[in-house]
Amino acid sequence: MNTDQDKTAAAQPFEIFLVAAPGLESVLCAEARDRGFANPTAVKGGVTVTGGWPEVWRANLELRGATRVLARIASFRALHLAQLDKRARRVPWAEILRADVPVRVEASCKASRIYHAGAAAQRIERAIAEELGAPIVKAAPKPTGKKPAKDMEAEAEDTGAVQIAIQIKARIDDDLCTISVDSSGESLHKRGHKEAVNKAPMRETLAALFLRQCGYDGREPVVDPMCGSGTFVIEAAEIAAGLKPGRSRHFAFEQLANFDPALWQSLRAGGTSTAPAIRFHGSDRDAGAIAMSRANAERAGVTAWTEFTHHAISDLTPPEGPPGLVIVNPPYGARIGEGKSLIPLYHAMGQTLKARFAGWRVGIITNEAALAKATELPFEEGGVSVSNGGIRVTLYQTGVLGE
Ligand SMILES: C[S@@+](CC[C@H](N)C(=O)[O-])C[C@H]1O[C@@H](n2cnc3c(N)ncnc32)[C@H](O)[C@@H]1O
Repeated sequence: MNTDQDKTAAAQPFEIFLVAAPGLESVLCAEARDRGFANPTAVKGGVTVTGGWPEVWRANLELRGATRVLARIASFRALHLAQLDKRARRVPWAEILRADVPVRVEASCKASRIYHAGAAAQRIERAIAEELGAPIVKAAPKPTGKKPAKDMEAEAEDTGAVQIAIQIKARIDDDLCTISVDSSGESLHKRGHKEAVNKAPMRETLAALFLRQCGYDGREPVVDPMCGSGTFVIEAAEIAAGLKPGRSRHFAFEQLANFDPALWQSLRAGGTSTAPAIRFHGSDRDAGAIAMSRANAERAGVTAWTEFTHHAISDLTPPEGPPGLVIVNPPYGARIGEGKSLIPLYHAMGQTLKARFAGWRVGIITNEAALAKATELPFEEGGVSVSNGGIRVTLYQTGVLGE
């Protein structure tokens, strides 16, 4: 990129940043490649692709593993605040933002002469307010106290709070200022179907990436014997049916100046979805979880292909038909060492799967290697790890289980 000149995204393809859960960037990169996005490259914290605004909309609509989609609208060098002020005013804000939609600016600085993120954000806010006239909403203060920022962020996303302002993110790194618009708004794990959630639900974006990492491509049955609110089963059924993950929700980009409702409608309506011949099965020992899963499946429109039954894992048997994938996110101890009491549960689960699921593959997501080991299942080396709501979890995978 020629960084000496201001670059804007108005007319030419630009960089689109797909935010990924750290640790799963390469899995999201593979998904972006499969969905036909140009130049997918895994980088720390996400995946870059290139395209125009229709690709930004399509990424929000179709990618199951992206947490959010940032459109990189401008990039310029800024060695001091006056230069930032001047160059930020040259960004063609009116082509992207609307004067009647509030904007929030968040800045970060790294290895740069401009080191005060608050002052940098203020210059960009002022540029937007004075050049475009859009109302500015102050960014929430950075979390303080003992709680790690990551946890706070996870919690903020879990409250279901509706984003009311367009978020502009400015990153100043090595004196290069990159300005992005958050085109998603609410985190993309909120598909718009799940009202009922059990304790510790898996985020849909993570569930989709774990399914992909297990080699699931929509053509085999999936069983989750501790299904909670049904996330894995519903994601698997949607993938098999070719349903777009963003089909039922709204996005921040609908509030941008360059939004084209007719084109968006045609993107949403495009493609085919077909009723899968295979079935997706969830079970749980908690009757409330089963009721939630059924309600969530109903809202997602996958009731016809999903089956949720109330029983403990000790009563689990493989469904009729071909083998496929067992994927499960059992309870885990919140802190290292606390999982000891769960060893008998993991052991019993391993015995059940080994005895009854020959021909199936197994993926288990848990936070302690000792718990995975207690299953005595033949896990492959090197499972992917990611933070799930502040807890680091790993996907342990087997190949096809033998007799
Ligand atoms: C971490 S949650 C799973 C969350 C789920 N992946 C979701 O997205 O909602 C673990 C689940 O295991 C269930 N569970 C615990 N012990 C069980 C057992 N012995 N048999 C069946 N389910 C069990 C719990 O009721 C709980 O719903």
